Amino acid sequence: MRMTTTTMTYTNILVEKQETSPGSGIYIGLVALNRPSALNALNNHLMQELVEAMQAFDKDDTVRAIVLSGSERAFAAGADIKEMADETTVSIMSKDNFATWDRVKAVKKPIVAAVSGFALGGGCELMMMCDMIVASETAQFGQPEVNIGVIPGAGGTQRLTHALGKYKAMEIILTGRPMTANEALQAGLVNKVVPVELYLEEAKNLAIQIASKSPVATQLAKEAILKAFDGSLDDGLRFERKNFYMLFSSEDQKEGMKAFMEKRKAKFVGR
Ligand code: HXC
Repeated sequence: MRMTTTTMTYTNILVEKQETSPGSGIYIGLVALNRPSALNALNNHLMQELVEAMQAFDKDDTVRAIVLSGSERAFAAGADIKEMADETTVSIMSKDNFATWDRVKAVKKPIVAAVSGFALGGGCELMMMCDMIVASETAQFGQPEVNIGVIPGAGGTQRLTHALGKYKAMEIILTGRPMTANEALQAGLVNKVVPVELYLEEAKNLAIQIASKSPVATQLAKEAILKAFDGSLDDGLRFERKNFYMLFSSEDQKEGMKAFMEKRKAKFVGR
């Protein structure tokens, strides 16, 4: 039996440490998004908690790798639309809450995403900030922001394009349609797809395998692999966020998010 210990209490996430084998003193860190009433929609408070938990694992020398999961029904259905619906370009830029998301990118330890159900919008973007992705057969991936009059704002235009190539990324982002787990596997977005009852265990097994290696080597390897994207990724991320914030000056953003909350189809006017 592996030992699991609960480390801290948060409101929107569950955080635990699991020993990789009895008495080894080596752990994997487990973070589960836990806002079931909103399909784990990523509001500011949740993101702050998530970053805090990840940073605590980063500082804890006994933790060698991290697993980030949601629930079976939803990894995360996006950034919280209700929280951002009334923002304007000026208000959203001056708060710059989405800068919190950058701190996930700064986590040094390898992160395995365990994904089941919806991984949409910001949920898909958060998943792509992780280093490996294990998906359940029920997972659905997509960037549906165009349906609510905006675009991805936390790396989707950049990381999905790196993973899928230009043509498939254009299709997924410009149509907003979801991809099945098998389509995502074939397209190179995820490492493996397993039956739903196994996805979390498989993700943990991957993390445990990594935890048995030199933590110095795995962290430096992660850092080096990310360098393959870095220069142009940072420019792309800044450009994407500026365009995302700019859309909060449009009538279509107001209409798109209002329509979502009123559970009806949006009527876009192109301004
Ligand atoms: C706020 C959300 C939400 C979201 C779901 N909910 N997604 N709340 N933000 N992103 C809430 C619903 O309002 C609802 O609350 C409850 O969760 C259950 O959702 P339902 O819609 O009733 O469930 P279902 O019919 O099963 O449909 C599931 C779904 C749908 C297809 C995933 O919820 C959906 O389309 N969600 C939005 C997906 C999306 O557009 N994501 C991108 C967001 S923009 P109530 O109170 O009614 O029970 C984004 C930008 C990122 O992520 C930019 C980062 C910088």
